[in-house]
Amino acid sequence: MEGTKWASISGLVIGTVLLSRSIPTTFAFDKPIHTIILVLASCAGTIFGLGRLLPRDAGGARSHEGQQYGAVPLDDLGQPHSSREASPSPGDVRYPSSLRKVRILFLVLVLAICIRVELLREVLANVQCATTNWEPIIPFIFAAWDYFAVQRHRTRLDADDDKLEGSIYEWLESLLAKARYRYVGATALLAFGTIQGLASVSSPRSTFICAAALPYRWVVSLLQRLGIVLDFAILYCIGQLLHQQEGRGQRSLLLRFVSVAWACLFSAVIILIASMVYYIFKEQDWMWVTSLPSLYIWSTLRLDALLCITVVCTLLCIYHVGVMSTSTIATFVAAASLTTTQAWSNSHPFPPTQAGVAFVALWIAIFAFATYLHVETTDDKPAHSTSPTFTKVPSWLYACLLVLFFARTGLWASHSNTVTYHPIDMLIYEAQSQHEAYINQTSASKTLLEAARAYELRYQRNPPPGFQHWYTYATARNSVVIDDYDSIHRDLLPFYALTPEETRQRTWQMIANPWNDAAGISIRSGQVAISPNVMPTHRWMLDGLVDMIGHFAEFLPDMDLAFNLNDECRVAVPYEEAERMRQVGTTHSQIEKPKNAFSDTRSEQWQPIPEEPITETPLQELSWQQTFYDFGSVGCPPGSPARRHRTWNTGELCTTCTSPHSLGAFLADWTLAANICHQPDLADLHGIYLSPAAFKGAHALYPIFSQSKTHGFNDILYPSAWNYINKAKYDPSPPHPDPPYPEKNSSLFWRGATSEGVSPGAGQWRGMTRQRFVHLANNINSSSSPQPLLTPTLHKPPSSSESHTTLSYTLWPLSALISALAPDVHIVDSIARCGGKDCDDQAAEFAPLVPPSDFQDHWRYKYLLDLDGAGFSGRFLPFLHSHSLPFKAGVFREWWDDRVTPWQHFVPLDVRGQGFWGTLAYFAGLRGVVGGREVVLEAHEVEGERIAERGRYWAGQVLRREDMEIYFFRLLLEWGRLTDDGRDEIGFDVDAG
Ligand SMILES: *[C@@H]1O[C@H](CO)[C@@H](O)[C@H](O)[C@H]1NC(C)=O
Ligand SMILES: *[C@@H]1O[C@H](CO)[C@@H](O)[C@H](O)[C@H]1NC(C)=O
Repeated sequence: MEGTKWASISGLVIGTVLLSRSIPTTFAFDKPIHTIILVLASCAGTIFGLGRLLPRDAGGARSHEGQQYGAVPLDDLGQPHSSREASPSPGDVRYPSSLRKVRILFLVLVLAICIRVELLREVLANVQCATTNWEPIIPFIFAAWDYFAVQRHRTRLDADDDKLEGSIYEWLESLLAKARYRYVGATALLAFGTIQGLASVSSPRSTFICAAALPYRWVVSLLQRLGIVLDFAILYCIGQLLHQQEGRGQRSLLLRFVSVAWACLFSAVIILIASMVYYIFKEQDWMWVTSLPSLYIWSTLRLDALLCITVVCTLLCIYHVGVMSTSTIATFVAAASLTTTQAWSNSHPFPPTQAGVAFVALWIAIFAFATYLHVETTDDKPAHSTSPTFTKVPSWLYACLLVLFFARTGLWASHSNTVTYHPIDMLIYEAQSQHEAYINQTSASKTLLEAARAYELRYQRNPPPGFQHWYTYATARNSVVIDDYDSIHRDLLPFYALTPEETRQRTWQMIANPWNDAAGISIRSGQVAISPNVMPTHRWMLDGLVDMIGHFAEFLPDMDLAFNLNDECRVAVPYEEAERMRQVGTTHSQIEKPKNAFSDTRSEQWQPIPEEPITETPLQELSWQQTFYDFGSVGCPPGSPARRHRTWNTGELCTTCTSPHSLGAFLADWTLAANICHQPDLADLHGIYLSPAAFKGAHALYPIFSQSKTHGFNDILYPSAWNYINKAKYDPSPPHPDPPYPEKNSSLFWRGATSEGVSPGAGQWRGMTRQRFVHLANNINSSSSPQPLLTPTLHKPPSSSESHTTLSYTLWPLSALISALAPDVHIVDSIARCGGKDCDDQAAEFAPLVPPSDFQDHWRYKYLLDLDGAGFSGRFLPFLHSHSLPFKAGVFREWWDDRVTPWQHFVPLDVRGQGFWGTLAYFAGLRGVVGGREVVLEAHEVEGERIAERGRYWAGQVLRREDMEIYFFRLLLEWGRLTDDGRDEIGFDVDAG
């Protein structure tokens, strides 16, 4: 008896801890119905299996079992312990009525499980609308049930109360043990402590859209509450089933467990049939239903195994100590484990958490839990015939609780709410020296020879043939950037793992099939031409390219190039393979006397484009589908969170995802912010990952030139023709002037379409960056969570110098922020790229849509918001050239990314938007009443103007049309060398030069 009891309690505790750690990052909820069918079936299977194992293992097991269960007379066990119901004594029970009760319990259990599963599915589908989890209230419901069903009817046996011969402590103890409300009181305290504890250390709400125009906000909340009722019903039925008393002996004991297993199996079958019937009518979802990515399978199997073990332990536990105690243990353990992890990861001033409240709440929970165990130990009433968890609460348990208590005390003590400087001040300061260091190292070379030596030093390779022409070209156009072309190096490095022949062949494969959406451009004897089979759409792009390359084509060898006609990037080589290729690229020795010319047989090496377009393609189409795991995270190391974790709870800001690249609420490291490997939550936060409009990608290294790419892609970046031919131009004129910064309208301005990705009906728009920012800036959800702003802390002595004020995050209601800062951020025209109900949903949510405005209108505003579209945003460079201050959020990076320094030339924002209001308030200043006191945030006009003007100056230095030509020229020289059969013998000869 004691054997399985302790094993099952330990199993329950360990299983609960492990589950509470692994559930937040499991892939299993991507397909909740699949998962639940599997879990129910395998739990049933496990119980059946154990059941078979026991009796078949003749003599030994049987006697063992006999010992175990024989130790406690089954008459005692047979009571309905869980509810502690005052039931007739075993002798009164008539077999048939008991059987009927079992049947009813069984049916209710199956029904409750099925409905619970459906509720879970509904809640998961709109988990961003979920509210505070009240699940810890379940032990309290059991206690209340127990009170109404049992304790209330008890005759007062407290006549011996006044004996009072022991100490005060004993008296207290006996009072506790005899008070009717003792379980109710302890579990109520536990529920209060755990719910409050979880709420006060939780992460802030995310910007993932819980649409105000749709009913989910209250529906999900209601479903959550209903779920608790059903959970209670399920546990109650299980408790009753396990304590049924028809028949005697081991067989019946086994039967009780098996009946629960049957209930699981029945529910699984019912759900399976129901969902099959449902999906037969939803043909469009078949692919989703039948595709099972390996990430999902492994994650689900792991969770399933853990769940099965925990469920079996829970059942045994319920059998031994009753439902109330089991649920109390599980609640306490889960809450303690969850709050401790959260308190650990949210221990910085941002996100603002109520560490003190959380600490007190944990204290209350520990107290309540200890009281509960204590009360249960001393409870010797006949109705309470399940054995208590402990006959005497052991001292090691107190030790464990003490350890927990001290751990949390440490966390609480080390938690700091205040900072002594504003992170943005510091980021601006650091950006200045970063930028100076950049200039230092990129314009050190003053002669061709120095530039060539610097090249060799940097890239361990001879400069490409024709380097002298490039140098002359660049210096004639006053290029500031001479040495630092690391982005070209990064993009081309893996291609050294392919032979020149392979690279040429793969280029041909890309451009020979028009379906690939890759346009060919060929250079022959210094003339640039567009391939004959290119479709007439995107003509501007190719004309721009021909124009740009034409400036320096005379110096280029004969070659073909494949240009990406889509906005989305294309080629993502898995990390392991890409690493190998980069390794091959770096193991390369310099040569002594290189030949400073390309091979002369190049023109016939490029296979001509066939008259009849070929139809094979190396590309795989994933338009309108999730691409994060297939094409995003494959570029990350195997152990990284992006490959192992799924942050399915879109309602919460993932603070472990933001903290590596943030300083408080503000974006600190723009380069790291683009690295998705530590940011698994991006899977649900950008159109390119949620549902790109056109996605044709490859996992093998195909050479394709793209205008922008996200992390992990191996496209080769080139300066976009969009900017080169000024499709969106900075062109102020008297009707649309660009006034000096202080004279501008101090609103944040953005206009755009919903073109980031396609939302064909599954609600993908709710995660897209553009939609989320519009939502956030307009307070569309009147109940949106308050926003954290850094404000001076209370009790500042009025005489103290300004530099010594401390700051802390305070939460401001969105409505106050909007009325003070009034951003003008709107979607224009009509909802684009949508299907099904998503069109109407978005139109309702973002109404009223505004008419498009003249691009030159932007310069009236001080702050310009720049957001990614389906690819990079073509407006950013004109924004930089203006006197306005650009704010940029996005995951796409372009050719100029190394040249421009965030916080020096523009203001970076996290795509999650958690720092959006804080950043805007820093520059624009704010006055408001928060928590009953008036707070004034100084505007940072000088800083804002300085960044705007530095950005403008720097764009005029390194982002001119000439700079695009210079970059492209160097890139194509490198490309020429890479595709040359003699690439190991050719190069610019420093000594000869
Ligand atoms: C730039 O280089 C100069 C001289 O080489 C050096 O004195 C200076 O400290 C450098 N500045 C930075 C920011 O690295
Ligand atoms: C600034 O622009 C906002 C939004 O476009 C507008 O409502 C406001 O009236 C303008 N303020 C001034 C001073 O022109």
